[in-house]
Amino acid sequence: AADHKFELAIPKVELHVHIEGTITAELRWKFTQRNGTKLRIAKNGPELKSLEEVQAAMDLLRPDPSRMENNKAETFQFFEAYFEGFECLKTKEDYFDLAMHYFEHAATMNVRYVEIFWDPQGHTSRGISWSVMMEGFREASKQAEEKLNVKSGWIMCFLRDLSTESAKEHYKAALPYRDIIVGIGLDSNELDRPPMLFDEVFSLARRDGFKLTMHCDVGSNNTHEHIRQAASVVAGKGLDRIDHGLNAAEEQGLINLIMEQDVGMTICPWSYLRHETYTELGPRIRRLYDAGIKISINSDDPAYMEDCWILHNILLVKYLCGFDDKDVVVLARNAVKTSWAQQAVKENIL
Ligand code: ADE
Ligand code: ZN
Repeated sequence: AADHKFELAIPKVELHVHIEGTITAELRWKFTQRNGTKLRIAKNGPELKSLEEVQAAMDLLRPDPSRMENNKAETFQFFEAYFEGFECLKTKEDYFDLAMHYFEHAATMNVRYVEIFWDPQGHTSRGISWSVMMEGFREASKQAEEKLNVKSGWIMCFLRDLSTESAKEHYKAALPYRDIIVGIGLDSNELDRPPMLFDEVFSLARRDGFKLTMHCDVGSNNTHEHIRQAASVVAGKGLDRIDHGLNAAEEQGLINLIMEQDVGMTICPWSYLRHETYTELGPRIRRLYDAGIKISINSDDPAYMEDCWILHNILLVKYLCGFDDKDVVVLARNAVKTSWAQQAVKENIL
Protein backbone atom coordinates (compact mmCIF):
# COMPACT_ATOMS: atom_id res chain seq x y z
CA ALA A 1 0.00 0.00 0.00
CA ALA A 2 1.14 3.54 -0.72
CA ASP A 3 1.02 4.39 2.98
CA HIS A 4 3.82 1.91 3.75
CA LYS A 5 1.94 0.75 6.84
CA PHE A 6 3.16 -2.81 6.50
CA GLU A 7 6.81 -1.91 6.03
CA LEU A 8 6.60 0.56 8.91
CA ALA A 9 4.92 -1.83 11.34
CA ILE A 10 7.19 -4.80 10.83
CA PRO A 11 9.64 -5.19 13.77
CA LYS A 12 13.13 -4.45 12.53
CA VAL A 13 16.75 -5.23 13.23
CA GLU A 14 19.44 -2.99 11.74
CA LEU A 15 22.95 -4.42 11.31
CA HIS A 16 24.78 -1.91 9.13
CA VAL A 17 24.71 1.72 10.15
CA HIS A 18 27.73 3.92 10.91
CA ILE A 19 26.96 6.27 13.78
CA GLU A 20 29.22 8.84 12.08
CA GLY A 21 27.05 8.42 8.98
CA THR A 22 24.04 9.71 10.94
CA ILE A 23 25.46 13.21 11.65
CA THR A 24 22.86 15.35 9.92
CA ALA A 25 23.33 19.03 9.07
CA GLU A 26 21.22 19.92 12.13
CA LEU A 27 23.43 17.86 14.47
CA ARG A 28 26.62 19.29 12.98
CA TRP A 29 25.32 22.79 13.52
CA LYS A 30 24.08 22.05 17.04
CA PHE A 31 27.39 20.53 18.20
CA THR A 32 29.63 23.21 16.69
CA GLN A 33 27.46 25.98 18.14
CA ARG A 34 27.54 24.31 21.53
CA ASN A 35 31.29 23.76 21.48
CA GLY A 36 32.27 27.03 19.84
CA THR A 37 34.17 25.23 17.08
CA LYS A 38 34.42 25.78 13.32
CA LEU A 39 32.42 23.78 10.80
CA ARG A 40 33.57 22.72 7.33
CA ILE A 41 32.17 20.16 4.93
CA ALA A 42 35.68 19.03 3.92
CA LYS A 43 39.14 19.80 5.26
CA ASN A 44 39.95 22.46 2.71
CA GLY A 45 36.44 23.82 2.39
CA PRO A 46 35.29 27.25 3.58
CA GLU A 47 33.95 27.70 7.08
CA LEU A 48 30.16 27.31 7.13
CA LYS A 49 28.37 29.96 9.13
CA SER A 50 24.69 29.02 9.26
CA LEU A 51 22.54 25.92 9.34
CA GLU A 52 21.36 26.78 5.83
CA GLU A 53 24.95 26.76 4.56
CA VAL A 54 25.55 23.37 6.17
CA GLN A 55 22.39 21.99 4.64
CA ALA A 56 23.33 23.30 1.18
CA ALA A 57 26.80 21.73 1.47
CA MET A 58 25.30 18.39 2.57
CA ASP A 59 22.85 18.55 -0.34
CA LEU A 60 25.75 18.61 -2.80
CA LEU A 61 26.97 15.30 -1.35
CA ARG A 62 23.67 13.59 -1.93
CA PRO A 63 23.05 10.90 -4.53
CA ASP A 64 22.73 12.19 -8.03
CA PRO A 65 22.29 9.53 -10.70
CA SER A 66 23.67 11.90 -13.34
CA ARG A 67 27.03 11.85 -11.54
CA MET A 68 27.09 8.09 -11.17
CA GLU A 69 29.50 7.43 -14.06
CA ASN A 70 32.29 8.84 -11.98
CA ASN A 71 31.95 6.62 -8.95
CA LYS A 72 35.60 6.86 -7.85
CA ALA A 73 35.41 10.64 -7.50
CA GLU A 74 32.12 10.25 -5.65
CA THR A 75 33.64 7.84 -3.15
CA PHE A 76 36.53 10.17 -2.54
CA GLN A 77 34.18 13.07 -1.92
CA PHE A 78 32.18 10.93 0.41
CA PHE A 79 35.14 9.88 2.56
CA GLU A 80 36.45 13.44 2.70
CA ALA A 81 33.14 14.75 3.99
CA TYR A 82 32.51 11.73 6.18
CA PHE A 83 35.77 12.09 8.11
CA GLU A 84 35.48 15.88 8.34
CA GLY A 85 32.07 15.30 9.92
CA PHE A 86 33.78 13.67 12.92
CA GLU A 87 35.26 17.05 13.86
CA CYS A 88 32.06 18.32 15.43
CA LEU A 89 32.14 15.62 18.12
CA LYS A 90 33.98 16.77 21.25
CA THR A 91 32.15 15.96 24.48
CA LYS A 92 30.43 13.00 26.06
CA GLU A 93 27.18 14.89 25.55
CA ASP A 94 27.86 15.08 21.79
CA TYR A 95 28.40 11.30 21.58
CA PHE A 96 25.31 10.71 23.69
CA ASP A 97 23.14 13.07 21.62
CA LEU A 98 24.38 11.58 18.35
CA ALA A 99 23.55 8.03 19.38
CA MET A 100 20.23 9.07 20.92
CA HIS A 101 19.27 10.88 17.72
CA TYR A 102 19.77 7.62 15.82
CA PHE A 103 17.89 5.54 18.41
CA GLU A 104 14.93 7.94 18.38
CA HIS A 105 14.79 7.76 14.62
CA ALA A 106 15.06 3.97 14.73
CA ALA A 107 12.23 3.73 17.27
CA THR A 108 9.84 5.61 14.95
CA MET A 109 10.45 2.90 12.34
CA ASN A 110 9.88 0.04 14.76
CA VAL A 111 13.54 -0.94 14.97
CA ARG A 112 13.92 -3.17 18.04
CA TYR A 113 17.57 -4.11 17.97
CA VAL A 114 20.62 -2.57 16.27
CA GLU A 115 24.30 -3.27 15.88
CA ILE A 116 26.00 0.06 15.23
CA PHE A 117 29.42 0.69 13.71
CA TRP A 118 31.79 3.29 14.97
CA ASP A 119 35.34 4.19 13.90
CA PRO A 120 37.35 4.78 17.11
CA GLN A 121 40.51 5.77 15.22
CA GLY A 122 38.71 8.77 13.75
CA HIS A 123 38.13 10.02 17.29
CA THR A 124 41.27 9.09 19.23
CA SER A 125 43.34 10.71 16.44
CA ARG A 126 41.66 14.01 17.34
CA GLY A 127 42.49 13.68 21.01
CA ILE A 128 39.08 12.40 22.14
CA SER A 129 39.40 10.04 25.10
CA TRP A 130 37.93 6.55 25.12
CA SER A 131 35.80 7.39 28.13
CA VAL A 132 34.22 10.48 26.50
CA MET A 133 33.27 8.43 23.44
CA MET A 134 32.27 5.16 25.10
CA GLU A 135 30.43 6.58 28.09
CA GLY A 136 28.36 8.75 25.75
CA PHE A 137 27.46 5.66 23.69
CA ARG A 138 26.87 3.48 26.75
CA GLU A 139 24.47 5.95 28.35
CA ALA A 140 22.56 6.34 25.06
CA SER A 141 22.27 2.55 24.65
CA LYS A 142 20.95 2.26 28.20
CA GLN A 143 18.35 4.99 27.77
CA ALA A 144 17.31 3.67 24.34
CA GLU A 145 16.56 0.30 25.88
CA GLU A 146 14.69 1.75 28.87
CA LYS A 147 12.75 4.54 27.19
CA LEU A 148 12.42 3.49 23.54
CA ASN A 149 12.51 -0.32 23.69
CA VAL A 150 15.46 -0.30 21.26
CA LYS A 151 18.25 -2.69 22.26
CA SER A 152 21.74 -2.25 20.87
CA GLY A 153 25.31 -3.48 20.60
CA TRP A 154 28.32 -1.69 19.13
CA ILE A 155 30.71 -2.92 16.42
CA MET A 156 34.18 -1.42 16.52
CA CYS A 157 35.46 -0.86 12.99
CA PHE A 158 39.12 -0.46 12.17
CA LEU A 159 40.00 1.94 9.39
CA ARG A 160 41.60 -0.40 6.87
CA ASP A 161 43.68 2.35 5.25
CA LEU A 162 45.52 2.78 8.57
CA SER A 163 48.16 0.37 9.90
CA THR A 164 47.49 -3.04 11.40
CA GLU A 165 49.44 -1.87 14.48
CA SER A 166 46.95 0.93 15.02
CA ALA A 167 44.10 -1.59 14.75
CA LYS A 168 45.73 -3.82 17.41
CA GLU A 169 46.33 -0.88 19.74
CA HIS A 170 42.72 0.23 19.43
CA TYR A 171 41.48 -3.30 19.94
CA LYS A 172 43.30 -3.53 23.28
CA ALA A 173 42.26 -0.04 24.37
CA ALA A 174 38.58 -0.88 23.78
CA LEU A 175 38.51 -3.95 26.02
CA PRO A 176 37.38 -2.04 29.17
CA TYR A 177 34.18 -1.24 27.25
CA ARG A 178 33.46 -4.70 25.98
CA ASP A 179 30.17 -4.85 27.88
CA ILE A 180 28.59 -2.85 25.01
CA ILE A 181 30.75 -4.19 22.13
CA VAL A 182 29.37 -7.20 20.24
CA GLY A 183 31.77 -7.40 17.34
CA ILE A 184 34.67 -6.15 15.27
CA GLY A 185 34.47 -4.74 11.74
CA LEU A 186 36.61 -3.16 9.04
CA ASP A 187 35.71 -0.16 6.89
CA SER A 188 37.01 2.92 5.03
CA ASN A 189 38.89 2.83 1.74
CA GLU A 190 39.36 -0.76 0.55
CA LEU A 191 41.82 -0.09 -2.26
CA ASP A 192 44.80 -2.48 -1.87
CA ARG A 193 43.71 -3.36 1.69
CA PRO A 194 42.53 -7.02 1.53
CA PRO A 195 40.86 -8.69 4.53
CA MET A 196 43.83 -10.97 5.29
CA LEU A 197 46.02 -7.97 6.17
CA PHE A 198 44.01 -7.81 9.39
CA ASP A 199 43.99 -11.54 10.10
CA GLU A 200 45.95 -11.28 13.34
CA VAL A 201 43.69 -8.79 15.12
CA PHE A 202 40.54 -10.52 13.84
CA SER A 203 41.84 -13.92 15.06
CA LEU A 204 42.55 -12.38 18.45
CA ALA A 205 39.07 -10.88 18.62
CA ARG A 206 37.47 -14.21 17.73
CA ARG A 207 39.44 -15.97 20.47
CA ASP A 208 38.18 -13.32 22.89
CA GLY A 209 34.58 -14.07 21.93
CA PHE A 210 33.72 -11.20 19.57
CA LYS A 211 31.73 -11.69 16.39
CA LEU A 212 33.42 -10.63 13.14
CA THR A 213 32.40 -8.74 10.03
CA MET A 214 34.07 -6.65 7.31
CA HIS A 215 33.15 -4.32 4.50
CA CYS A 216 33.71 -5.74 1.01
CA ASP A 217 32.83 -2.73 -1.11
CA VAL A 218 32.82 -2.24 -4.83
CA GLY A 219 35.58 0.34 -4.26
CA SER A 220 38.22 -2.38 -4.07
CA ASN A 221 40.38 -3.40 -7.02
CA ASN A 222 40.12 -7.08 -6.18
CA THR A 223 36.63 -7.46 -4.84
CA HIS A 224 36.05 -11.17 -5.57
CA GLU A 225 39.24 -12.19 -3.79
CA HIS A 226 38.36 -9.92 -0.86
CA ILE A 227 34.93 -11.57 -0.55
CA ARG A 228 36.54 -15.04 -0.72
CA GLN A 229 38.96 -14.18 2.08
CA ALA A 230 36.20 -12.66 4.21
CA ALA A 231 33.86 -15.62 3.70
CA SER A 232 36.30 -18.46 4.23
CA VAL A 233 39.85 -17.54 5.25
CA VAL A 234 40.11 -14.73 7.83
CA ALA A 235 40.49 -15.87 11.46
CA GLY A 236 40.76 -19.54 10.47
CA LYS A 237 37.36 -20.10 8.86
CA GLY A 238 36.00 -16.79 7.63
CA LEU A 239 33.76 -14.17 9.19
CA ASP A 240 30.28 -14.29 10.70
CA ARG A 241 28.97 -11.65 8.31
CA ILE A 242 30.06 -9.65 5.27
CA ASP A 243 29.05 -6.02 4.84
CA HIS A 244 27.94 -5.30 1.26
CA GLY A 245 29.81 -7.90 -0.86
CA LEU A 246 27.34 -7.34 -3.68
CA ASN A 247 29.91 -8.34 -6.30
CA ALA A 248 29.51 -11.94 -5.12
CA ALA A 249 26.42 -11.95 -7.36
CA GLU A 250 28.76 -12.15 -10.39
CA GLU A 251 30.37 -15.42 -9.32
CA GLN A 252 28.39 -18.59 -8.73
CA GLY A 253 31.40 -20.00 -6.86
CA LEU A 254 31.27 -17.14 -4.36
CA ILE A 255 27.52 -17.51 -3.95
CA ASN A 256 28.04 -21.21 -3.20
CA LEU A 257 30.85 -20.44 -0.76
CA ILE A 258 28.79 -17.86 1.15
CA MET A 259 25.91 -20.36 1.36
CA GLU A 260 28.17 -23.20 2.56
CA GLN A 261 29.81 -20.99 5.15
CA ASP A 262 26.40 -19.60 6.19
CA VAL A 263 27.70 -16.04 6.18
CA GLY A 264 25.07 -13.29 6.54
CA MET A 265 25.30 -10.28 4.23
CA THR A 266 24.25 -6.72 5.06
CA ILE A 267 22.93 -4.94 1.97
CA CYS A 268 22.45 -1.14 1.80
CA PRO A 269 20.56 -0.32 -1.41
CA TRP A 270 20.70 3.48 -1.19
CA SER A 271 24.43 3.33 -0.69
CA TYR A 272 24.85 1.54 -4.03
CA LEU A 273 22.81 4.18 -5.82
CA ARG A 274 24.91 6.77 -4.03
CA HIS A 275 28.39 5.43 -4.76
CA GLU A 276 28.20 2.98 -7.52
CA THR A 277 27.57 2.47 -11.19
CA TYR A 278 25.30 -0.56 -10.94
CA THR A 279 22.69 -0.69 -13.62
CA GLU A 280 21.77 -4.18 -12.49
CA LEU A 281 21.30 -3.36 -8.83
CA GLY A 282 17.92 -5.06 -8.39
CA PRO A 283 18.89 -8.25 -10.26
CA ARG A 284 22.15 -8.56 -8.30
CA ILE A 285 20.43 -8.28 -4.93
CA ARG A 286 17.78 -10.69 -6.16
CA ARG A 287 20.40 -13.21 -7.21
CA LEU A 288 21.84 -13.36 -3.67
CA TYR A 289 18.36 -13.55 -2.18
CA ASP A 290 17.14 -16.26 -4.58
CA ALA A 291 20.25 -18.34 -3.85
CA GLY A 292 19.12 -18.44 -0.22
CA ILE A 293 21.83 -16.21 1.23
CA LYS A 294 20.67 -14.48 4.40
CA ILE A 295 20.78 -10.88 3.23
CA SER A 296 19.44 -8.06 5.41
CA ILE A 297 18.50 -4.50 4.41
CA ASN A 298 20.21 -1.55 6.12
CA SER A 299 20.87 2.18 5.85
CA ASP A 300 24.72 2.55 6.03
CA ASP A 301 25.15 6.38 6.15
CA PRO A 302 21.64 7.86 6.19
CA ALA A 303 22.74 11.49 6.72
CA TYR A 304 24.58 11.24 3.38
CA MET A 305 21.80 9.36 1.58
CA GLU A 306 19.01 11.92 1.31
CA ASP A 307 17.93 11.02 4.83
CA CYS A 308 17.09 7.49 3.77
CA TRP A 309 16.90 5.30 6.85
CA ILE A 310 16.16 1.58 7.10
CA LEU A 311 12.49 1.99 6.16
CA HIS A 312 13.36 3.80 2.92
CA ASN A 313 15.93 1.14 2.08
CA ILE A 314 13.31 -1.58 2.52
CA LEU A 315 10.93 0.32 0.23
CA LEU A 316 13.69 0.83 -2.34
CA VAL A 317 14.73 -2.82 -2.43
CA LYS A 318 11.09 -3.85 -2.76
CA TYR A 319 10.81 -1.65 -5.82
CA LEU A 320 14.19 -2.63 -7.33
CA CYS A 321 13.77 -6.38 -6.84
CA GLY A 322 10.01 -6.72 -7.18
CA PHE A 323 9.75 -8.16 -3.67
CA ASP A 324 6.33 -8.71 -2.10
CA ASP A 325 5.29 -8.50 1.56
CA LYS A 326 6.35 -12.12 2.19
CA ASP A 327 9.84 -11.30 0.92
CA VAL A 328 9.97 -8.28 3.22
CA VAL A 329 9.24 -10.60 6.15
CA VAL A 330 12.00 -12.98 5.00
CA LEU A 331 14.46 -10.05 4.84
CA ALA A 332 13.43 -8.88 8.32
CA ARG A 333 13.86 -12.43 9.66
CA ASN A 334 17.27 -12.68 7.98
CA ALA A 335 18.35 -9.63 9.97
CA VAL A 336 17.16 -11.24 13.21
CA LYS A 337 18.86 -14.56 12.38
CA THR A 338 22.18 -13.05 11.35
CA SER A 339 22.24 -10.59 14.26
CA TRP A 340 24.41 -11.21 17.29
CA ALA A 341 21.63 -10.61 19.79
CA GLN A 342 21.06 -13.13 22.54
CA GLN A 343 18.60 -15.88 21.65
CA ALA A 344 15.93 -14.55 24.03
CA VAL A 345 16.13 -11.13 22.38
CA LYS A 346 15.88 -12.69 18.91
CA GLU A 347 12.81 -14.70 19.87
CA ASN A 348 11.10 -11.55 21.08
CA ILE A 349 11.45 -9.73 17.79
CA LEU A 350 10.03 -11.74 14.89
N1 ADE B 1 32.47 4.01 6.38
C1 ADE B 1 31.29 4.63 6.36
N2 ADE B 1 30.63 4.38 5.22
C2 ADE B 1 31.42 3.56 4.49
C3 ADE B 1 31.30 2.92 3.23
N3 ADE B 1 30.20 3.09 2.48
N4 ADE B 1 32.31 2.16 2.82
C4 ADE B 1 33.39 1.99 3.57
N5 ADE B 1 33.56 2.55 4.75
C5 ADE B 1 32.58 3.33 5.22
ZN1 ZN C 1 29.13 0.72 5.70
